[in-house]
Amino acid sequence: MYSCPPEGVVGWRSPSNIALIKYWGKQPQREQLPANPSLSFTLHHAYTDMWLYWTRRTHRDDPIELQLYFEGRPADDFRKRIYDFMLRLLPEMPFLGEYAITIRTRNSFPHSAGIASSASAMSALALCLVEWKYRCHGLSFDLHQHYREVSDIARRASGSACRSIVPQVALWGAHPDVEEASDSYAIPLPKTYRDFAEQWRDLILIVDKSPKSISSSQGHALMEGHPYATTRYQQAKKHLSVLLKAMKDGDIETFGRIVEAEALTLHALMMCSPTPYMLLKPQTIDVINAIQNWRRTRDLPMYFTLDAGPNVHLLYPQTYEAEIWTFIATALPSFYYHPSRYLADEVGNGPHPLEPTMPDS
Ligand code: DP6
Repeated sequence: MYSCPPEGVVGWRSPSNIALIKYWGKQPQREQLPANPSLSFTLHHAYTDMWLYWTRRTHRDDPIELQLYFEGRPADDFRKRIYDFMLRLLPEMPFLGEYAITIRTRNSFPHSAGIASSASAMSALALCLVEWKYRCHGLSFDLHQHYREVSDIARRASGSACRSIVPQVALWGAHPDVEEASDSYAIPLPKTYRDFAEQWRDLILIVDKSPKSISSSQGHALMEGHPYATTRYQQAKKHLSVLLKAMKDGDIETFGRIVEAEALTLHALMMCSPTPYMLLKPQTIDVINAIQNWRRTRDLPMYFTLDAGPNVHLLYPQTYEAEIWTFIATALPSFYYHPSRYLADEVGNGPHPLEPTMPDS
């Protein structure tokens, strides 16, 4: 049984993450379990702040009483997504139906940048919900101790969100090389891997800001009946083995080769899915070519990865910061030098709690 305080507030800052081995395809008829394991770097500067406030209900018209403000304004689509998710959680978290809930949330990155926010937002939501649950049971919540439970809830809201709970580098999905790995939640990796991850920077070059024509969830669905699905899932497992070994050995060249292969495979899968589509833009290809040429001619460890969209994530070890800015200034069209066209990020330490006071906006 539970007995929540009559009112209260919890708040969390949770980062976004960038997948190096991509999650693309779900197990059929299972609640958001991945078809293959994935691995990501947890980011630092791209994050969501979220506060959840609960108080006495004012009406019983709906099973859940929820208000949601994104950057100070009611956000209906986002509210509906969270409302539907809470409805699914209601049997195991009955307190969600007992209180009036207000969520206030904002992102560190501009809404219009074309950067996916579901990983940071849904991981922040999972953190708020699980902390609230612990409060209702009169227990203290410790992320370090309870990260699997939070990651599991985040996964059910949006698969990739489960990885944002873990500092530096997260592995989600069962794999023979890592005994503790699970399809249900993401896990941290030993110190050697975290140390390898910590040196990396991720400069996100904004090629196109418009919203995606096909969402990631639709993309995952198109992996069912995809002619290359089985081969792809095997390839992802092999790539993960090679990447883990490269990280352990500090072998940056192999690491970069696998990361780029994963990015291009993701988009190749879209292009040859049962309903083919393409999210790459001509400028995406231009930036990729520029990165690969510069790497060859200057012998620099700079690599790219892509999300399910046209923007390019330029990955490089922090020691090469100066050389990378020379690259941006000389090898790319000049507008990429403008702060509105890039987000400079790095590998981060994962979520942390916020002051439990609701902001006005
Ligand atoms: C290409 O986690 O956004 O970014 O589980 O349906 O919410 P849902 O999908 P989502 O998919 C992310 C796909 C990806 C690769 C990755 O992050 O691993």
